[in-house]
Amino acid sequence: MRRAALLAALLVAAAPVAGQAPLDWTPDEIRAVASHGPWPPPVAVDRSNRVSGNPAAILLGQHLFEEPRLSASRQVACGDCHQAGRDWRDGRARGFGLVELDRRTPSLWNVGWQHWFGWDGASDSLWMQSIRPILDPREMGGSTRGVAKLLREDRQLACGYERAFGTAPGADDERLLVDAGKALAAFQQTLVTPRTSFDDFRDALVAGDTIAASRYPIQAQRGLKLFIGANCASCHFGSLFTNGEFGDTGVPFFARDGEVDSGRLGGIARLRASPFNRLGQHSDDATDASATRTRHVERQHRNFGEFRVPGLRQVGRTGPYMHDGSLATLDDVAQHYSEVSPDRLHSDGVPLVRALGLSGEERVDLVSFLRSLDSDTPKLLPPAPLCP
Ligand code: HEC
Ligand code: HEC
Repeated sequence: MRRAALLAALLVAAAPVAGQAPLDWTPDEIRAVASHGPWPPPVAVDRSNRVSGNPAAILLGQHLFEEPRLSASRQVACGDCHQAGRDWRDGRARGFGLVELDRRTPSLWNVGWQHWFGWDGASDSLWMQSIRPILDPREMGGSTRGVAKLLREDRQLACGYERAFGTAPGADDERLLVDAGKALAAFQQTLVTPRTSFDDFRDALVAGDTIAASRYPIQAQRGLKLFIGANCASCHFGSLFTNGEFGDTGVPFFARDGEVDSGRLGGIARLRASPFNRLGQHSDDATDASATRTRHVERQHRNFGEFRVPGLRQVGRTGPYMHDGSLATLDDVAQHYSEVSPDRLHSDGVPLVRALGLSGEERVDLVSFLRSLDSDTPKLLPPAPLCP
């Protein structure tokens, strides 16, 4: 009897999180927490892509995503680097296609809500970004003609194309390449992370539901307070935990010895030079309203060494971190923000990042909060055949 009572007391002591009162949250803090939701946001629609949201195009896109014949060697598919069972990334520090790349393969979760794509934002739409690796000699090394031919000559793909776009694949090779990009984009827009324990806490806090809020571990609550206090949200903003823009966090910008990755600066140049941007003939947005950002983007000195602010949903599962995969774990990232030296920040103006000088315990809290943005994602079933 006594043993059982002692054991019960020990068990209660060992399970301090559930049922414990949440920390005190000021109205300002609650507003800050509320700004990271609700989740999920309204469905993303891209007006420059006429098949955005179209089920037949999503199906075609899912097939193309795993299609190695888009590449020159007929051996590299999107899904080799953005792996379905691995949160749509490869787990490597730097991507590897036909050769090793300079940057890490980002996860594709929630990519449909971005407005710039790639670490340097060299693409302004998901379909433009989906064309880039097909043609890039280091990634898939494919060609416009090769993709067009495949869509015309493969019976299944041609049939899937007709269902998605309403006409059989035509004679215009470049248009077919772009349409492949648009189907790939329609598919990627469906990659949405489920709700997380953070979302339940956020909603409970907004609703004033203390009991529901107390289910969120105290450690994560302390980490969330650090996140708010350190102004991480000035870049990791809103329900996606990114403002979709670019920033400098003091990560070195060398691609390899003596070779610089200029980040956003080079990205803007590549964006402007490409025939596939939203200002070109391939955008389906008749109003042109969705091209406003592209029209106004200008290279500035501070863009040198800036990289796209990554969203933080599912971040605990998508390491290694940063554009070059140089930080292996979330604790390494917390340490980075704890110690970053002002000399390493090369942007002009007032830096948004400063060394936080976190204690070991505070780093654990911060990581615990970041991990509360993870969720178990349902396994994606193999796609249905394109045509019976
Ligand atoms: C060889 C590995 C590799 C292959 C193959 C590959 N990617 Fe990527 N992907 C990357 C890397 C690396 C980046 C980051 C590129 C950069 O910033 O320069 C990236 C970036 C992206 C992004 C931007 C994500 C974001 O958050 O901005 C999208 C979207 C994407 N790839 C889709 C695709 C599609 C669609 C295909 C197939 C047509 C594909 N990728 C093939 C490695 C790969
Ligand atoms: C100035 C804008 C800015 C601020 C402020 C900022 N970040 Fe970041 N964060 C970025 C950028 C940009 C990257 C990617 C840097 C790179 O790839 O070189 C990043 C990367 C990360 C990553 C790695 C994600 C990944 O997928 O690689 C985490 C985690 C992170 N930040 C958390 C935080 C936390 C926690 C804070 C507050 C202490 C914070 N950030 C403050 C801009 C910012």
